[in-house]
Amino acid sequence: MVETKVLISEQQLREKVAELAATLKEDYRDKHPLIIGILKGSFMFMADLIREMDIPLEVEFVNLSSYGRGATESAGKVKMVQGLTTPVKGRHVLVIEDIVDTGLTIRYLLDSLLKKKPASLKLCALLDKPSRREIDVPIDYLGFTVANVFVVGYGIDWDERFRYLRDVCFVEV
Ligand code: XMP
Ligand code: MG
Repeated sequence: MVETKVLISEQQLREKVAELAATLKEDYRDKHPLIIGILKGSFMFMADLIREMDIPLEVEFVNLSSYGRGATESAGKVKMVQGLTTPVKGRHVLVIEDIVDTGLTIRYLLDSLLKKKPASLKLCALLDKPSRREIDVPIDYLGFTVANVFVVGYGIDWDERFRYLRDVCFVEV
């Protein structure tokens, strides 16, 4: 039996998203940014964030799969399963990620985007789990720092389960 317990409530998420969006709105007001969401985990956060930002922007998604260490462990190796359909050259790019864990996934994406010569490249992550970091990645806009627990909900899954939860929860096996 798997139980989930609330770690960050829907209300806390809403307040943090509003706060992040206000900052992003200022920073990207006249830049017509290209917002790139990493599927699948970032979809709910990104949907809430861009509605709050309320400025002209474009949306793209990439699907990266990390594999190699089992269901609750992330990125052994990273592969681009579905890539971009829009040129990145000269664009102000903002990458949206659900959680930065070892850093391998996001480092892979940022490196491949940098080669395409964007005008700027920044990272916005809902959650940071610094205790497990293997590669240094600067998070320009951060929601919350979490301890070394396995989180689900608000778009984030555990083996495809629990994405629909309104709160960010942790799993107790
Ligand atoms: P890395 O280690 O590459 O991993 O920074 C980032 C990706 O791993 C997934 N991840 C999690 N997924 N609960 C999840 O459901 C977690 O606690 C967790 N930690 C890492 C996530 O998909 C993220 O994009
Ligand atoms: Mg992910």
